[in-house]
Amino acid sequence: MRSHSPTGGDAPLGPEWPEGYDRIILETVDSTMAEAARQATSLLKPTWIMAETQTAARGRQGRPWIVPPGNLSATLILKPSCTMAEAAKRSFLAANALYEALAYYADPAKLGLKWPNDVLLNGGKVAGILLESSGNGHYLNWLSIGIGVNLAHVPDGVTDAAFAPTSLHMASDDTVAPDDFLTKLASAYATQEMKLETMGFDRIREDWLQHAARLGEVITARTPLADFTGVFDTINADGHLILQTADGPKAIPAADVYF
Ligand code: BTN
Repeated sequence: MRSHSPTGGDAPLGPEWPEGYDRIILETVDSTMAEAARQATSLLKPTWIMAETQTAARGRQGRPWIVPPGNLSATLILKPSCTMAEAAKRSFLAANALYEALAYYADPAKLGLKWPNDVLLNGGKVAGILLESSGNGHYLNWLSIGIGVNLAHVPDGVTDAAFAPTSLHMASDDTVAPDDFLTKLASAYATQEMKLETMGFDRIREDWLQHAARLGEVITARTPLADFTGVFDTINADGHLILQTADGPKAIPAADVYF
């Protein structure tokens, strides 16, 4: 299999499991998000929960997520001391890490991040991210970042998606094992956290914008209040989508948007 490294050149030795992160691997679970919520208060370190099979996996906007065996299902539980608004910025760290992990296996020129945090490969959806959190309305108790990647199979029966599903396997000859992918993803995520700590959210934002698939396109962002159509311009320092609409620039929080 061709192996792309985010820093250029081939990467013969994959990354190691990152220091400071735990990992729990389950055979079967209802949803790794549900398992994360059950375990969150007792966990002492950031922890990845991976399951070989999920029986009730969830997607964004209350949709089910279909996971054929061989695809990746994992949730990262974090407990940073911060506000809930700050915690939402972690979705960009996760999206960058997911992009970088996929870029080991697929041609980076064919990959793109679609607002708010799906990954497109050859124009189809190869991976999605779901954020769930618990807090007191202002401060965060825990945040879980659920990641589903169509590694081996394109799920059947996805009819309501704006972007047809695809798989990593369709773009490369080989099949990537979920635990190998998880190691790359966990390592890329740990690097993103380090960048956030040393360089701030601006650096994360820059990475995200470099990987973004739809800058400059006219898009419609549907929010609970209204639909907004405009040119997808950038994300701002708060992690809000800036859309250039006919009425001027509009900043829309990621959590409010669905397409
Ligand atoms: C989306 O709708 O695009 C987000 C999909 C997120 C799916 C993942 S699979 C691992 C984790 N557990 C779940 O139940 N959902 C997320």
